[in-house]
Amino acid sequence: MKRLILALTLLLPMIVFASGGELKLQPANINITDKAALQTGAKLFVNYCMGCHSANYVRFERMGNDLGLTKEELQENLMFTAEKVGEMMNIGMKGTDSVNWFGVIPPDLSVIARARGVDWLYTYLLSFYLDPARPLGVNNLVFKDVGMPHVLWGRQGWQKPVYEQVMDAQGNTHEVIAGLELVDKDKMTEQEYQEKVNNYQQDVRNLVSFLDYIGEPAKLQRQELGWKVILFLIIFSIVAYLLKHEYWRDVH
Ligand code: HEC
Repeated sequence: MKRLILALTLLLPMIVFASGGELKLQPANINITDKAALQTGAKLFVNYCMGCHSANYVRFERMGNDLGLTKEELQENLMFTAEKVGEMMNIGMKGTDSVNWFGVIPPDLSVIARARGVDWLYTYLLSFYLDPARPLGVNNLVFKDVGMPHVLWGRQGWQKPVYEQVMDAQGNTHEVIAGLELVDKDKMTEQEYQEKVNNYQQDVRNLVSFLDYIGEPAKLQRQELGWKVILFLIIFSIVAYLLKHEYWRDVH
């Protein structure tokens, strides 16, 4: 046991050190019980993502029920390709096409929130920037040399890197990316800029909420049920306690 603690103590600085160089993820701060956010997120997903990515484990009907949509709302707002509400969120693009276009197959996003985590997804969708050296003209801070275009540029605008000079141990200076800012920043007032940034962050938050939901559709029910179970246990404990009193009164 002592050895284990010693080993862990020795490892600790290494772990801290290892995480030092990486980009800090921004907290997504999502609320999965916010149905309006999930609905907006679903809309963004079918409009901007399903051209390339499927969500093969999600059935439209189930999603509609969970998000509180009627069958008509579901069909009108969220369904373009699928004919029947009982179908899964498949897409028509062939794997071979996407390899020709992007060099890779865009992965199915059903469980991406569980694979990557919501903060990673949030930061990823905020971190596309112009990079003329890349085939699609964009790069990404958390996914270097990404093969996906910046599909949400119409909502966010284009970002460019803001560089900073840092000196390494040998005393050489390097240019590194310190952050990103919108290319059109100079054309806006400070307030307009903040508004634009906030609006896009809200878009991404909604989208990530939706991706988190499809990663585990039962989460909504699980959380709701959790409260009921706890409430039941509390009431049951009170009843049990009163009963105990009642029984023991005769014994004493
Ligand atoms: C034009 C096609 C296209 C569209 C539209 C698109 N993507 Fe992608 N996406 C890709 C490709 C291609 C990759 C693989 C990139 C790679 O591996 O370099 C990818 C990768 C990803 C990844 C990283 C997966 C991983 O490996 O962890 C995420 C997350 C993602 N996309 C989310 C989205 C979201 C959310 C949308 C909608 C806002 C979207 N994508 C729209 C093509 C697309």
